Amino acid sequence: METVTVNLGKKTYTIEIAFNLLSSVGPKIRALSKGEIAVIVTDSNVGPLYAKTVEASLKAAGFKVEIITFAAGEQSKNLHTLSTIYAALAKAGVTRSDVLVALGGGVTGDMAGLAAATFLRGIDFVQIPTTVLAMVDSSVGGKVAVDLPEGKNLVGAFYQPKAVYIDIEVLQTLDPRFFYDGMSEVIKYGCINDPALFELLEKTGPKQVPQYLAVIIAACCNIKARIVERDEFDTGERMVLNFGHTLGHAIEKAYNYNKYSHGEAVAVGMATITAASEKAGFTKAGTTERIKELLTLYHLPLEAGITEEQMADAVRLDKKKKGHELTIVLLKEIGTSFLKKIDFKDVNKYI
Ligand SMILES: NC(=O)c1ccc[n+]([C@@H]2O[C@H](COP(=O)([O-])OP(=O)(O)OC[C@H]3O[C@@H](n4cnc5c(N)ncnc54)[C@H](O)[C@@H]3O)[C@@H](O)[C@H]2O)c1
Ligand SMILES: [Zn+2]
Repeated sequence: METVTVNLGKKTYTIEIAFNLLSSVGPKIRALSKGEIAVIVTDSNVGPLYAKTVEASLKAAGFKVEIITFAAGEQSKNLHTLSTIYAALAKAGVTRSDVLVALGGGVTGDMAGLAAATFLRGIDFVQIPTTVLAMVDSSVGGKVAVDLPEGKNLVGAFYQPKAVYIDIEVLQTLDPRFFYDGMSEVIKYGCINDPALFELLEKTGPKQVPQYLAVIIAACCNIKARIVERDEFDTGERMVLNFGHTLGHAIEKAYNYNKYSHGEAVAVGMATITAASEKAGFTKAGTTERIKELLTLYHLPLEAGITEEQMADAVRLDKKKKGHELTIVLLKEIGTSFLKKIDFKDVNKYI
C-alpha cells in the first residue's frame, strides 16, 4: 500500500493507494466519522459494478447506508442533478455528523463534493475515485464544482475530503479510452515535476504499466499534494498544473467538447506549446521529441487539426487571462517547469 498525506493544518488528510481497497473502506471511514448514515453518491456505470462492495463494508462497520445514483457523464454534472442529490440527502435524514462517500470518476467526485460542501453548510466526505484522472487529479486538492450552460465548473467551492481511497483494481473495468485520457495527466506530472516518473513511463509503456500503477499514482498524488499545500486556493503555483491546458481547453472548446477528451486535448496542448517554446529557445533541445514519443506510446494524439488562428482565438478567450496578459506554463526540460506571462499579441508564437 502507498500513502500520501496532504498537509493542510486541521484539514490534513491521507490518500491510500492499494489493490482491493473497496471491501475494507468501512472500518477506515468509521475511524474518521461518528455518523449514523453513510451516503454513497455514484453514477449509473460505477454503481452497479462497485456500490454493493462499498455498501457491505460500510454496513459491517455500523453505518446505515443510502445509495444515490445519477446518470453517468459530464452532462449530469449540473445544478439539476445536484438538487436531486440534496433532495435525497434530506429525505434520508442526513445530519451534520453523517458522511458522504463519492464513488466514481471526476464527475461524481466534483458534484458529490459540492453537495457535501453545501448541504447543511458542510458535511464530511470521502473520495473513492475510480478513473485514472480522478485518482491523480480531481480527487486531490479539494476543488469541487458543477457546470452551468454558460461554462464548465462555474459553480463550486474549495472543500477538502476527510480521506481518499484509491483501489487500483477498479481500473480493470475502465474503458481504455478513459485510461489513456488519464495517462495524459500522468505524463503532465512527469513533464512539470518528475523526470524519474517520465522515464518510468518511457520504460514501461502501457502494457507493463498496471504493475507499476500504485507507484505511478502515488507519485502524481505527491506532486499535486505538495503544490496544493503551498497554494490551496489556486492563486499562484498551482497554475503549473495547467501545463498543456490553455491550448487543451481551446481544442476541447473548438470541437464543442465532443471530439477530443480532456486528456487528449491536453496531450496536443503539451506537444504544441513545447514545440513552440523549444523553437523559441526556452526549452532544452529534444524535449518535444521525447514528449511526442511518450504521448504516442500511450495512444494520445499530437495534433488536433485546427488552425493556428482558431487556437489563438480560443486562447484569448481563456478564463485564466488577466487584462492583456496570459500566464502560460513552459518546460525548461523534462521535470522542470516555469510560469511565463505573455502578451495577447504574442499568443501565436506559442502555438
Ligand atoms: N476537481 C478537480 O480538481 C478536477 C480536475 C480535473 C478534472 N475534473 C473534472 O473531472 C471530470 C472528468 O472526470 P472523469 O474523466 O473521471 O469522468 P467521469 O467521471 O465521467 O468518468 C468517465 C466515465 O468512466 C466511467 N467509469 C468511471 N470509473 C469506472 C470504472 N472503474 N469502471 C468502469 N467505468 C467507469 C464513468 O461512469 C464515466 O462514464 C470533469 O468534469 C472535470 O471537470 C476536476
Ligand atoms: Zn486536466
